[in-house]
Amino acid sequence: MLSKIMQDALNAQVAMEAQSSQAYLAMASWAEIQPGLKGVTNFFFKHADEERMHMLKLIHFINERGGFAVVPALQQPVLTFVSVKKAFEELLKHELAVSNSINELVDIALKEKDYATHNFLQWYVMEQMEEEKLARDCNDKLEMIGDDKSGLYLFDRDIMTMEND
Ligand code: FEO
Repeated sequence: MLSKIMQDALNAQVAMEAQSSQAYLAMASWAEIQPGLKGVTNFFFKHADEERMHMLKLIHFINERGGFAVVPALQQPVLTFVSVKKAFEELLKHELAVSNSINELVDIALKEKDYATHNFLQWYVMEQMEEEKLARDCNDKLEMIGDDKSGLYLFDRDIMTMEND
């Protein structure tokens, strides 16, 4: 059985994952109307789906442990970006905030002596390591590319396979 503190903290994470999904969906919609960004568009749509999956996994866990997962209200995300680089900077910032939040949850689970939740959260700890790395890799590449259009063309092509690196 989840403690009230643990349940509230997990529900806050449900909201954060939902908000992440919404933020990446907005990035995808923005990218889709830019010329020549098919790879980037797919990447953001896929990422929005992944965040929804992270949210659903939490919802099932909370409910299965005798709690009640609360479906949250969402804020309007940022809708437009001055460049692909800016969008990816936002993505990295967002992922770092999610990592902090997951680490807080792990901390709460230990304080509550809730080892089942602690164990469950390890999947998120690993996932965040991968997501941060991917976001950093994208930012590094975009930093190198700068304003070079042919570089951006290659980035858009390569991002289709980057997650399998
Ligand atoms: Fe579910 Fe990218 O954090």
